[in-house]
Amino acid sequence: MAYRWNMSDFEPFYDVNRTYEDNYAQGPFGAFAETLKSGTAVEEESGKTGGSFLGQPVNLAFGIPAGPLLNSRYTTAAFRMGFDLATYKTVRSRAWGCNPFPNVLAVHPASTDGSLTPGSAELDEGVLADTNYEQPISISNSFGVPSQEPDVWQPDMRAAIAAAAPGQVLVPSFQGSRVEGMSEEDYIADHATTARLVKETGAKLMVMNTSCPNEGHNRLLCHNPLLVGRITEAVKNEIGDTPLMIKLAFIPSDDDLELMVRSTVGRGTVQGFSTINTISARLVDKDGNQALPGAGRDRSGVCGSAIRGAGLEMVRRLAALRERLGLDFAINGVGGVVSPEDYAAYKAAGADSVMSATGAMWDAELAHKIKASL
Ligand SMILES: Cc1cc2nc3c(=O)[nH]c(=O)nc-3n(C[C@H](O)[C@H](O)[C@H](O)COP(=O)(O)O)c2cc1C
Repeated sequence: MAYRWNMSDFEPFYDVNRTYEDNYAQGPFGAFAETLKSGTAVEEESGKTGGSFLGQPVNLAFGIPAGPLLNSRYTTAAFRMGFDLATYKTVRSRAWGCNPFPNVLAVHPASTDGSLTPGSAELDEGVLADTNYEQPISISNSFGVPSQEPDVWQPDMRAAIAAAAPGQVLVPSFQGSRVEGMSEEDYIADHATTARLVKETGAKLMVMNTSCPNEGHNRLLCHNPLLVGRITEAVKNEIGDTPLMIKLAFIPSDDDLELMVRSTVGRGTVQGFSTINTISARLVDKDGNQALPGAGRDRSGVCGSAIRGAGLEMVRRLAALRERLGLDFAINGVGGVVSPEDYAAYKAAGADSVMSATGAMWDAELAHKIKASL
């Protein structure tokens, strides 16, 4: 039977009613804040499930992907709540501002099961978005991948790494920044520089984001596998043997997905894929008007329960490619995990590890529930 949330338990650790800056300065909230106040680490049964993540031993290869864990206070709270993989929100080579508030809305797809299918007309015609958060939870997030400057995030990432208990791993996420006047070579070099800055914190592994639809459809890096191949080569030259995973959005074409695998894993630059990121949709209010205020925000990325089917499909296709090409790479399944059953579905689809962003935001006990179900 599917797990049901108790709505009275709701207090997401990222408060969608506050600005990003306030969340950064004052969060986390709810159960994550409580566990930090208690000052003691939650006892985990180290080694019980014997998992691993890119070569690092972990209690259970389950955690939170890039996004809602804004700094070391959030990642430390996630560890204490039993999420053995805590991803530090995507950092850049330079300070980068956040899109205007609001950054999150509840999303209500029209289908009876609440799912959104990549390529469906609904994504262009408009999906209802408002502030009525309900289960199964689906939201839109529109942040624009903000970052502190390296002088701020580097020492904080070091502290985040140090707070992991045995059997837990801090997963740094980074991406390149494309700014006005940059050549393609500059853009590639920016990824390598950022990877070096991450490595300097003592990171044992890292995830490179190539998949943020919030940067605009034409700037979705993972739809250009050859460029990703060149970037990962430059990154590999900087980080040497440090394992590198890349974060992919949903890639519709099997040929493109195969080209992605061949131009990265096939050249020895990448050891795994984390997928999926959000699915881009036009968001409308109940009157059919643009739901998020401001120019360039008619579309935004949808995550949570609505995208689980698409995430599972990407994991299955990657697992099939891994088998057919005889290549060795890790698959981190992401998208719509809100219950122990969803975790199990990703494992059955071929994922080596699983993460939940939206589901964990709305259920701080998710890792404990999954562990109890095994
Ligand atoms: C609040 C929020 C912020 C996010 N920011 C990032 C980010 O900075 N970098 C990134 O690679 N993905 C980001 N994501 C995407 C998630 O990592 C994940 O791929 C997506 O939300 C799908 O998982 P879910 O259905 O469990 O939420 C963000 C997601 C949320 C909910």
